Amino acid sequence: MEYVSLGRGGPDVSAVGLGMWQAGGKAWGSDVRDAECREAMERAVELGINLVDTAEAYGDGHSERVMSRAIRNVGRDHVFVATKVGGWHLRADDVKKACAASLKRLGVREIDLYQVHWPDPWSQVPLRETMKALEALHRAGQIRNIGVSNFAVRDLTEARSHLSRSDIASNQVRYNMLQREVEAEVLPYCKREGIAILAWSPIGKGVLTGKYHDGKRPKDRVRAEEDLFKPTNLRAAAPLIRELRKTGRAHGKTPGQTALAWLRRNRNVIPIPGAKRPSQAEENARAAGWSLSARELRTLGRLLRRIRLDTF
Ligand SMILES: NC(=O)c1ccc[n+]([C@@H]2O[C@H](COP(=O)([O-])OP(=O)(O)OC[C@H]3O[C@@H](n4cnc5c(N)ncnc54)[C@H](OP(=O)(O)O)[C@@H]3O)[C@@H](O)[C@H]2O)c1
Repeated sequence: MEYVSLGRGGPDVSAVGLGMWQAGGKAWGSDVRDAECREAMERAVELGINLVDTAEAYGDGHSERVMSRAIRNVGRDHVFVATKVGGWHLRADDVKKACAASLKRLGVREIDLYQVHWPDPWSQVPLRETMKALEALHRAGQIRNIGVSNFAVRDLTEARSHLSRSDIASNQVRYNMLQREVEAEVLPYCKREGIAILAWSPIGKGVLTGKYHDGKRPKDRVRAEEDLFKPTNLRAAAPLIRELRKTGRAHGKTPGQTALAWLRRNRNVIPIPGAKRPSQAEENARAAGWSLSARELRTLGRLLRRIRLDTF
């Protein structure tokens, strides 16, 4: 496994992580099994993945509980535990309570990366209050690094201005070959400021593996209404899948692994693909340790410029 630092001067984490939302119950389909999700994490760690991402929001803590069993089996030292405080828990007291509850469910004494899951547009808790609460947890040794998720540049700059002894290590955002909004502002800002990008939905919730098409679409709660799976969008993505298959074949890689390698062309981007079972975790882990050539990146770039998705 290849390792990169989580932001400038940050701790080393695997160049590909593992997402554990899949372990949060049945949101990702009736075929999800706790034991297989646990085994997926164990296999990932066996292959050198240490960065594992979960959240209190995933199955109301269920994903954290499944993860705790895997941590017990593989050993705490082999896992860089990343979890998140939900956007409804951003008052100072709530942050403290949410962190204590996550520590308990995960069965660990400290969280390696504690992330604000999303900025709160409804209760409008001042970011100052949330960031100060996170800094207090950091000082108390309950969290090792502070992260955010789904933050625009305006949120990042404000959040950072409220931290006096620490900085934001990472911003976890949606980023894959078909959903590239972060490239306009967030990615350049984070690159310049030494903040890592954890890319969620890095294989487009499965689309970029090539297994879905307009005649085969997932029916689960997370994906049934997702834009990416509209028949028109699956048809629009078909030429990309063909190219990923062709490019990957030259390296002995699958379309999904090739899509993950494309994200990793930026050194501060760390994809965190989710896996429901060990075979998926294994395939995704093997997306690290190789790269696409400049020519292959140019060909893929040209093709991407021609793809238009329907997002309404
Ligand atoms: N911060 C946030 O707001 C946020 C939002 C979303 C996700 N996340 C995090 O990011 C992680 C990953 O994102 P994601 O789960 O949305 O999407 P993803 O990683 O792009 O896709 C995951 C899905 O793709 C399929 N898959 C995975 N590996 C595969 C393989 N090797 N071959 C074939 N199919 C494979 C699986 O579903 P099927 O087998 O059913 O197709 C899996 O459930 C999550 O687990 C979570 O930790 C964070």
